[in-house]
Amino acid sequence: MRKPLIAGNWKLNLLQADAEALARQVKAACDTDAVEVIVCPTYTALAAVRQALEGSRIGLVAQDLYWEASGAFTGEVSAPMLVDAGCRYVIVGHSERRQHFGETDETVQRKAKAALAAGLTPILCVGEVLAQRDANQTVGVVGAQLEGAFGGWTGADAQRVVIAYEPVWAIGTGRNATPEQAQEVHAFIRQWLAKRFGAPVGEAVRIQYGGSVNAGNAASLLQQPDVDGALVGGASLKADAFATIVKAAVDAKAAMR
Ligand code: PGA
Repeated sequence: MRKPLIAGNWKLNLLQADAEALARQVKAACDTDAVEVIVCPTYTALAAVRQALEGSRIGLVAQDLYWEASGAFTGEVSAPMLVDAGCRYVIVGHSERRQHFGETDETVQRKAKAALAAGLTPILCVGEVLAQRDANQTVGVVGAQLEGAFGGWTGADAQRVVIAYEPVWAIGTGRNATPEQAQEVHAFIRQWLAKRFGAPVGEAVRIQYGGSVNAGNAASLLQQPDVDGALVGGASLKADAFATIVKAAVDAKAAMR
């Protein structure tokens, strides 16, 4: 059974002291073995959050990385540096990076491979924009993003990835995908993985949903059979809302047994 993964993507928010305080609240409210809980602070808060989470099962995650390990790349942060900072996972190809910072399927692929090579698990984000959903192109767009990201991969590597399905129109808008819409795309992603890498890989890979997940809608989304967790933005900045989402994942998993 796939262990649900609940991630708090704090984005470009929180100074060190605030990040540390939130991490302490998350540690107090969300430290469970039933699901995996991770938080993604900005680079400058990684050390403070790492310290605050010490002694808990909650994982530290970075929001991005560069694919070279070191060298003359001013401003970048590499996979070995993130491992050194205590990270377990790294987000790759978030739609905000694709939209504002020129990420392409090719850079996503390079970043994901660099993460794996350093022992980090990439959380690979895919998702369509509203015009594409309205034109019934969702599955084609997500399939092309998967093709682009997974070109030349082995099944052994693909099995180590987490995928986040995040419809762009649902991110930060308060308008989440319905549980049925999410399940439909998650099932497609799983089938795509099974077809490309074999059924065991399709079964093993965790697929998170992201886009306006909150304390009110988390349960119905997390009860879907192919939804293995959530990538939470806005609601992860409030410990009580995030804890409610974690609890919904624990309950959904118990109900599936
Ligand atoms: P949101 O962000 O929950 O604020 O919509 C999700 C994300 O961007 O990962």
